[in-house]
Amino acid sequence: MEEPGRRLRRIRYLALALTALSLLVILVSAYIRLNGAGLGCSPWPECYGQILSGGPHPHSGGVRILHRVVASLALVLGFVLVWQCLRPTLLEAPKCPATALLGLMILLTFVGIFSADPHRVWAGFINILGGALLLLLSWRSVLATLGPAPLPDPRRHAPVLHAGLGMLALTLIFGALIGARYAAPACPSLPGCGDVLWPGSGWSALNPLATIAVPTMLGDAGGAALHLLHRWSAVATLLLLGLGALRALALPFARLAAGVVLVALLLQISLGVLTVLGGFGLGMAVAHSVCAAVLFAAGMHLLRRVKVGAA
Ligand code: HEM
Repeated sequence: MEEPGRRLRRIRYLALALTALSLLVILVSAYIRLNGAGLGCSPWPECYGQILSGGPHPHSGGVRILHRVVASLALVLGFVLVWQCLRPTLLEAPKCPATALLGLMILLTFVGIFSADPHRVWAGFINILGGALLLLLSWRSVLATLGPAPLPDPRRHAPVLHAGLGMLALTLIFGALIGARYAAPACPSLPGCGDVLWPGSGWSALNPLATIAVPTMLGDAGGAALHLLHRWSAVATLLLLGLGALRALALPFARLAAGVVLVALLLQISLGVLTVLGGFGLGMAVAHSVCAAVLFAAGMHLLRRVKVGAA
């Protein structure tokens, strides 16, 4: 009979490998999506969203193959991870995040079949949000091997942190809608879209089930509404999550996690602002997309640290 410690170590290494692969999948798929959307095309902005008209777009075959290889490797490792959690005896702690991770990977594999058609907003939307969840669940699987899941300390409610993470989720949703609707150039100014600071119309752009035929260009009401909602929710995230993390700096067992959240939060906002100021450069937008997933995983990790106290 194998020593349980050795098995847990193996699961931890697998989960760590999956965390690294998840980051790579997010990076490569953001590059493919945003490059295909036209953020790296010439002449900009005329070429933006050409992918929707079936026109030429600069997808490199090499990057697509890399994406397939990395995603397939992650899927295989996901199966091995779950198998290791179930056999020969059930390991309860890592089983839950590992099976959720595998389930999500299978879902994203099916969504991938549909995302070949860029007109389906929902496919791009699920891909972007699914990437952030991949990172969260693989990191959770790593943590689950470090000891039994600690019980939440009932004295710790962390309401500001909860509100901050709720706002972050909303910001992610609005950002994912901008990406999935090819709405980047709808609002190239800061702080508002021209003189407009709050959306008056264009609310139908919030529908992730829509089908789009053409990219949303400058001044489009729906695209501008998404940008404005994205920015306002980012400001609310900065205030709430920033405050929650600043408070958590006082807790010795949460200090490191709080520091990571603060750095990722400031970096994420700066990347968003620079993406707009830089005229939607591909590099900035890809970095903005990857950092969003890191921030989400770091924020959820901080919440867990704060809720369980020093346990
Ligand atoms: C907590 C803060 C923020 C989060 C979590 C966040 C998240 C996201 C996400 C997930 C996307 C979709 C990326 C993709 O298509 O792959 C996005 C897109 C975008 N965000 Fe943010 N964002 C934040 C703040 C901001 C700010 C402050 C600005 C600018 C003022 C901004 C500007 C943009 C722009 C222009 C896009 C479209 C470019 C693209 O498709 O990537 N974001 N954001």
